[in-house]
Amino acid sequence: MDGNGRWAKARGLPRSAGHRAGAEAARKAVRAAGEAGVECLTLYAFSSENWRRPAAEISDLTGLLRFYVQKELDSLHKEGIRLKILGDHKAFESDVARLVDDAVARTAGNDRMTVAIALNYGARGELVQATRRLAGEVARGTLEPDQIDEERIEAALDTHGLPPLDLLIRTSGEQRLSNFLLWQAAYAELLFVDTLWPDFDGEAMRAALSEYARRERRYGGL
Ligand code: FPP
Repeated sequence: MDGNGRWAKARGLPRSAGHRAGAEAARKAVRAAGEAGVECLTLYAFSSENWRRPAAEISDLTGLLRFYVQKELDSLHKEGIRLKILGDHKAFESDVARLVDDAVARTAGNDRMTVAIALNYGARGELVQATRRLAGEVARGTLEPDQIDEERIEAALDTHGLPPLDLLIRTSGEQRLSNFLLWQAAYAELLFVDTLWPDFDGEAMRAALSEYARRERRYGGL
């Protein structure tokens, strides 16, 4: 969800206003994706590298998260949306971590759509954790090294239980993956758009999905 800062700067507003507009855009993106029948939408809300930002900005982002989880939980739940978290959200203030845990628990039985929020997430860290988990099983003698295959690695990732990643959208003209879902993106379609995230509305989501529908996926075959 890139470009909040630039969106605010272009309007002479503080970065916090850009993040507020970005959170509104996230709400609209969830709605538009749900209406289009998207099974799972993952939002990269806070990377494990975002701790390098000034404390005031981290506090603004945490505040937005707190506000939106509280405000949106009922409607997400009513709409049959399951909330899932990628990354280690326990690093946030304890009240936020608890709110998130409660929201995940309350929506766990929903099956119309999954909204995954990446919080304090980094793909390399996720792979390190998965490797440790599997190495632990080998050390305990419950897993043979030869049994480690793609399926086992996938099961040890934060995304286990989610459908394969089909489309990865990056906004604001940046053309990098920035440590996002590196394993999962192996065969994803990548879409880089110039739109700044706060301007990424329902129409932009529908346009992205139409572009995806035009792509021909071969997975290395012909
Ligand atoms: C990147 O734009 C955006 C972020 C690091 C934060 C994204 C978070 C939200 C939209 C709000 C919280 C989310 C939820 C789901 C409630 P940037 O700040 O790097 O923008 P810039 O590149 O223009 O400076």
